[in-house]
Amino acid sequence: MKVSVITTDEQISLNVQPGLTLLDHLKHNEVYVSSICGGVGTCHKCRVKIENGFLPIRDIDHKAFSSEELKEGWRLSCQSRPRINCTIRVPSVENLRLQPRTLLRDITLYDPVIVCDLGSTGVVVGIGDGYDAVSIEVHLLNKQIRYGADVMTRLHSAQRFGVKALQDSLYKTLRQCLKVLEEKDPENYSKAVKKPIICSGNSAMVSFLQNFDITPLAVSPFQPEHTKKTQSHLDSLIIETPPLLGGFIGADTTAVLAYMFDLKIPTPYMMIDIGTNTEIVFLTSDGKIIFTSTPAGPAFEGGSITKGMRAEPGAISKLKYENNEWHFETIGHDTPKGICGSGLIDAIAQGLKNKLIEQDGFLKESSLQFCERVYLTIDDIREFQLAKSAIRTAVDMLIDRANEKPQKIYLAGNFAENLNQDSIKLIGLLPPDIPMETIGNGSFKGSFTLATKPYIVCNQFYEHVDSKKQHIELALQDDFQERFVHHLNFHEIEYESKLTQ
Ligand code: FES
Repeated sequence: MKVSVITTDEQISLNVQPGLTLLDHLKHNEVYVSSICGGVGTCHKCRVKIENGFLPIRDIDHKAFSSEELKEGWRLSCQSRPRINCTIRVPSVENLRLQPRTLLRDITLYDPVIVCDLGSTGVVVGIGDGYDAVSIEVHLLNKQIRYGADVMTRLHSAQRFGVKALQDSLYKTLRQCLKVLEEKDPENYSKAVKKPIICSGNSAMVSFLQNFDITPLAVSPFQPEHTKKTQSHLDSLIIETPPLLGGFIGADTTAVLAYMFDLKIPTPYMMIDIGTNTEIVFLTSDGKIIFTSTPAGPAFEGGSITKGMRAEPGAISKLKYENNEWHFETIGHDTPKGICGSGLIDAIAQGLKNKLIEQDGFLKESSLQFCERVYLTIDDIREFQLAKSAIRTAVDMLIDRANEKPQKIYLAGNFAENLNQDSIKLIGLLPPDIPMETIGNGSFKGSFTLATKPYIVCNQFYEHVDSKKQHIELALQDDFQERFVHHLNFHEIEYESKLTQ
């Protein structure tokens, strides 16, 4: 039996095996369809449209589509098992074809190294003499995305398909990036590959890369099998992962700390990397390194939001409400197709400020309608409240355990770069009275710090971090539940109104 698949740039034919879902087939044939929930039928993102033939309507399809859309042929690919030949179309927004994006800088390198930041969503590989002298960066969507959007869904996929499948995906992503580096700058590439490639990523990414048993990380108390620095081979190259801090806080956070230590930032301060798994570290004035992570879920990346999408062309990324009208910008000035994380944060902040959303998240109207195709429902606001509270609760608990206030909060990661800080304060994602600053991709920068320092210095740094670290497991703290419920509401809007009175 054959299924013909039409994507934005090609038409391919799949041989369908009985028992597998259409999403499984699409994944195996590298047609990338958004599948945030990993195929369990809750995210409603794996939409495909029947152009020819027949796919039965399942109960879950009724939850995901209107009767009009079902009549038009829309189905969830994770729930569909083709029984006859058919042709389906994968819509452009959902079809994530992988093309590397390359940034070139005209810099002469003297002692080049290669480093890699393995994000759950995107991977960045670069060649340079240090974080401030990077001649090429290659950005690519992590091919593991087809195994789920967040760390937990990927871990479940690893239990289902084997860690090797996730490792292979990551290897493919890395090989594609490295090939671009080699093609663009063969001379520096050949010098740099003589040294280990430092690869930083969260605990799950490192475990997938090194093919570790992920069982201990997938079940309570969620600890990785290994936390030490590890070396292995990718083809003829040596890849090295820095030590993990513990729990889901991995080598990426160790790398960010290397970068912050190198900058000699005065303590006390806090570092936050906002994402589906948000990592938070507090550096106290007496040298302690208190850390935690919180599963904020995919809302900030547009997942679990009805009209949510990644920060791609057509995503509403900035919003303002003025004179009873929504004004917005989309990425690439494209036709609005959905809303991404930064747009979502602006929308909620503006909704609160203009009293379209109440302090408890209740909507005055049935939805916030930004344009014909893009809106937020009450369920989207609820989803956002859960994500917001997960982060704010973790931040407050770390401040409480440190018993002092940070002088500053440093926001790492590309997501934070695009956020409006006023909106962050208005929605209460972070304490409004603490100054904040973005530091960009700290994990990538810190990987350069580690790759360019002598081994002995790196090992001393790892030993220092190991002796000072203190893991706070949120779920085990007595005050977690109470704080979490408290932060579901938008209390900061009161603070803001007092400031503006
Ligand atoms: S609903 Fe199909 S992957 Fe989430």
